[in-house]
Amino acid sequence: MTRTFTVLGLESSCDDTAAAVVRGTGGRAEILSSVVWGQAALHADFGGVVPEIAARAHAEKMDLAVEEALARAGVALADIDAVAVTAGPGLIGGVLSGVSCAKGIAAATGLPLLGVNHLAGHALTPRLTDGLAFPYLILLVSGGHCQFLIVRGPDDFARLGGTIDDAPGEAFDKAARLLGLPQPGGPEVEREAAAGDPSRFAFPRPLLDRAGCDLSFSGLKTALLRARDAVVAKKGGLTTQDRADLCASFEAAVTDVLVEKSRRALAAAGTVTGFAVAGGVAANRSIRAGLESVSRAADVRFLAPPLALCTDNAAMIAWAGLERLSLGLTDGLDLMARPRWPLDESRPALLGSGKKGAKA
Ligand code: KG4
Ligand code: ZN
Repeated sequence: MTRTFTVLGLESSCDDTAAAVVRGTGGRAEILSSVVWGQAALHADFGGVVPEIAARAHAEKMDLAVEEALARAGVALADIDAVAVTAGPGLIGGVLSGVSCAKGIAAATGLPLLGVNHLAGHALTPRLTDGLAFPYLILLVSGGHCQFLIVRGPDDFARLGGTIDDAPGEAFDKAARLLGLPQPGGPEVEREAAAGDPSRFAFPRPLLDRAGCDLSFSGLKTALLRARDAVVAKKGGLTTQDRADLCASFEAAVTDVLVEKSRRALAAAGTVTGFAVAGGVAANRSIRAGLESVSRAADVRFLAPPLALCTDNAAMIAWAGLERLSLGLTDGLDLMARPRWPLDESRPALLGSGKKGAKA
């Protein structure tokens, strides 16, 4: 008989203080609660996440988030079977806040502790939302992540490739900044692009000339900057249409690269049960449509979990913990917080996974 577990999850690796309660077996589970408290307002004046401010806010709020998650789930600590916590990768001060809080709960209650890799949380989410069976291919694509993984088991990941510089969300954010659009840039660029001509500016499709599944996005923003400056030099400014065309051409380039690399990743992955996407960039309609059509062409099921579970949250950590618990993979109070922690230790990222790589 498969045992049912109730797991409390904690997440604090970047700028969200999150706690959640998930109940189920190693195969399927239900989210009883998921609390996500973002810190955007705290970092707004600094143009990015300030690690010290993030760590302090996590330390102040984590126990409150746990209380809130337990209350919303209608359970007490006595109903919990284990405490799962993001033990990396991420901003070390924040990760330590979560790990210390989880250790405190484990020490006080005697509950087992489960150290979860944040990327495993993202990568295992399609099992929580859709009960997807192993092995499957996933593309993690956000402001901090961009990598293709074959997920073969709760603790068995093969990295096929990833960005060698910026993450796509980061590229969208930089593009928005260059065009005077607000942050986060992805949704803004997508909105502008809807009225633009994607063929007006011939932006590069980086790394398509190279075999394999690695990607690069930093050259695209330089191309956008040059194109913008050329228009400004000629006309003295950007018209609404110029900006829409720049956005559409930029979005088309990012989409083409993600789609072609996904096609290659699907070909390299062998037999899989599905192709899933996770991360904020998965919200982009043109990218989503491209990934869907490449899956259809490969006759592979396409899955995009709801956005609230694609972006950072603690339900995915509780779930990944539950999967580990059902395999008997628990940790002791000597669990270490790791700022860097590649999922596939045999193929770590070449140069990191974006400037906000800490967020990965
Ligand atoms: O997963 P997420 O919420 O946070 C992490 O980065 O981990 O992703 C946020 C990123 C931002 O860079 C944002 O600009 C991008 O996802 N994004 C989009 C869209 N919505 C959010 N990028 C392109 N198109 C969108 N519609
Ligand atoms: Zn994340």
